[in-house]
Amino acid sequence: ASTLGASAAERGRYFGTAIAGGRLNDSQYTTIANREFNMISAENEMKLDATEPNQNQFTFSAGDRIANWAISNGKRLRGHTLAWHSQQPAWMQRMEGSSLRQAMLNHVTRVATYYRGKIYAWDVVNEAFADGSSGARRDSNLQRTGNDWIEAAFRAARTADPNAKLCYNDYNTDNWSHAKTQAVYRMVQDFKSRGVPIDCVGFQAHFNSGNPVPSNYHTTLQNFAALGVDVQITELDIEGSGSSQAEQYRGVVQACQSVARCTGITVWGVRDSDSWRASGTPLLFNGNGQKKAAYDAVLAQL
Ligand code: XIL
Repeated sequence: ASTLGASAAERGRYFGTAIAGGRLNDSQYTTIANREFNMISAENEMKLDATEPNQNQFTFSAGDRIANWAISNGKRLRGHTLAWHSQQPAWMQRMEGSSLRQAMLNHVTRVATYYRGKIYAWDVVNEAFADGSSGARRDSNLQRTGNDWIEAAFRAARTADPNAKLCYNDYNTDNWSHAKTQAVYRMVQDFKSRGVPIDCVGFQAHFNSGNPVPSNYHTTLQNFAALGVDVQITELDIEGSGSSQAEQYRGVVQACQSVARCTGITVWGVRDSDSWRASGTPLLFNGNGQKKAAYDAVLAQL
């Protein structure tokens, strides 16, 4: 097929992008997004600060704009994200202890209930592990409510939307030999053994020269899948340009394709000029909307 989404679909997978609501009136942007991708993540509009700006006052207008664009164009939605230490509304940042635990669970329940039936997979919990060699949980107000906060969030999400796949999502978990990867693996193993509802693990996959695509990526994805979860590449971008960037993108696609339970890949934006990265050219289309070498490499590999 001649587009990323259609080519991925031929092998039973999807190819998605993050969409920023503020760009939906840019016709070059929407033309590319609609043509190439068949899975959509809201870049910011379903996060905690966007959906619950004041405690117990939920606003879904920005999230709905993206959800409606996706659904009306025949695309599926990944929900991003229900519980996270970052982009919390100010009221939540100030909370702690059991009141924070209750507020977090209420948020998970209300947002997942609102979008019930529309979401293919939710990133229920995002970025809960520390970087570096400790293998520890990330210190955060949520973590300080008790180590069981992650499983509590997953149970609340399952109750609210029993048909959505429930994912744990993180970054720097691509290299199998890294402590953070091992720590997330042990959590998923523990959840599966105790019947905590988890269906998938998302690998953000933000790569750069200091954090390149690992040569053992296939091993990481395969080992997680062997625990009985789907795996997905959820926020892919790769700093660089030209053939070296293209080759790294190709390698990520190949790693996913080599694992039966790797169900899809999402890039974190459309054009380089849409990227969250302050500088650089990490995406598949240049700032003029033209296909880059990385695009050609991905399409050829799909
Ligand atoms: C980023 C967005 O792209 C930016 O627009 C925003 O300012 C900050 O968040 N990990 C995630 C995403 O899970 O939600 C982040 O998105 C990028 C890193």
